[in-house]
Amino acid sequence: MIEVPETFARSTIEREGATGAAWLTEVPAIVDELMRRWACTRDGEVVHGGVGVIVPVRRPDRSPAVMKVSFPHPGNVREPDAFEAWHGRGAVLLYARDDERFAMLLERVHTSTLAEVEDGDEVVSVAGRLNRRLAVPAPHDLPRLREQTGAWEEQLCTDAGEFSDALSRRAVDAAVATVREVGREQPDLLVHGDLHGGNILRAERDPWLAVDPKGYVGDPAYDGGTLLKSRALAILAADDPRKAVHRVLDVFAEAAEVDRERVRRWAQFHAVQAAFWGRRHGFRRARGGPLLDLLTEFADSLAELLVERV
Ligand SMILES: Nc1ncnc2c1ncn2[C@@H]1O[C@H](COP(=O)(O)OP(=O)(O)O)[C@@H](O)[C@H]1O
Ligand SMILES: [Mg+2]
Repeated sequence: MIEVPETFARSTIEREGATGAAWLTEVPAIVDELMRRWACTRDGEVVHGGVGVIVPVRRPDRSPAVMKVSFPHPGNVREPDAFEAWHGRGAVLLYARDDERFAMLLERVHTSTLAEVEDGDEVVSVAGRLNRRLAVPAPHDLPRLREQTGAWEEQLCTDAGEFSDALSRRAVDAAVATVREVGREQPDLLVHGDLHGGNILRAERDPWLAVDPKGYVGDPAYDGGTLLKSRALAILAADDPRKAVHRVLDVFAEAAEVDRERVRRWAQFHAVQAAFWGRRHGFRRARGGPLLDLLTEFADSLAELLVERV
């Protein structure tokens, strides 16, 4: 039986409480059962992300794979559908799935991620090129970003009322305008939904492949915003943050072949959401204390910096 990594167990219980603790006790048996059903053998140390354990295995033909078992959460439901639609284009292949157990058997690639690459331009252009490959016609039954716009706008208004000192009026207004204008008009393309360096892994058949998609339907520029937000630390640590943000937008828009203005506006919206989310819930990396204050401050700065055309 596998042993669930201690850090993963701790963060799951912290986030999900008793439900998380109960699920953790089931994980080793789930892995065992699926190993038998999919005729796999163990092949290395268990690793984990924020929501799932990753067990390296070999398939009956000896090809390397990983089994991913995620915490049963609505946000993790669409992941196998996205992998299926890509058929390995820009992302790892899906070999088998058990939706009831939130489990998948995936093509194994390297565990090192694009987030470990130092050259910022390289990170952004790799992510941009990948974003273009991932923008395939979407399966019809995946959730549309367009359909979330009403809820987003409502939440922005609630947050702005509750945390009225957090952001300038124009930063909040800009985010609302993005939801109304950019959000309402989106193509039916498959969107990864959580594109950042940590979800892009080093591979052999392609230099980089994506993992961990949310699986949305909508505007490929949406994930340019996700990527840019993940670069917040590097952008704000630069001598000239305005120039740095400019550069990320240029490089991403060119590599992804998407509209630069749409990337900027989605990024500004993501930053505003993060600024409020941090105040309400904290972040995975910090639930409180000085690190949370710092991260929230970063989100605030990015939200203000991106208000205007840069
Ligand atoms: N197909 C894979 N091949 C090799 N390693 C993987 C694979 N999928 C995930 N991993 C490893 O597990 C980590 C977490 O995976 P991820 O799918 O992002 O989980 P989470 O949804 O919990 O964030 C990755 O950063 C990587 O190190
Ligand atoms: Mg991940």
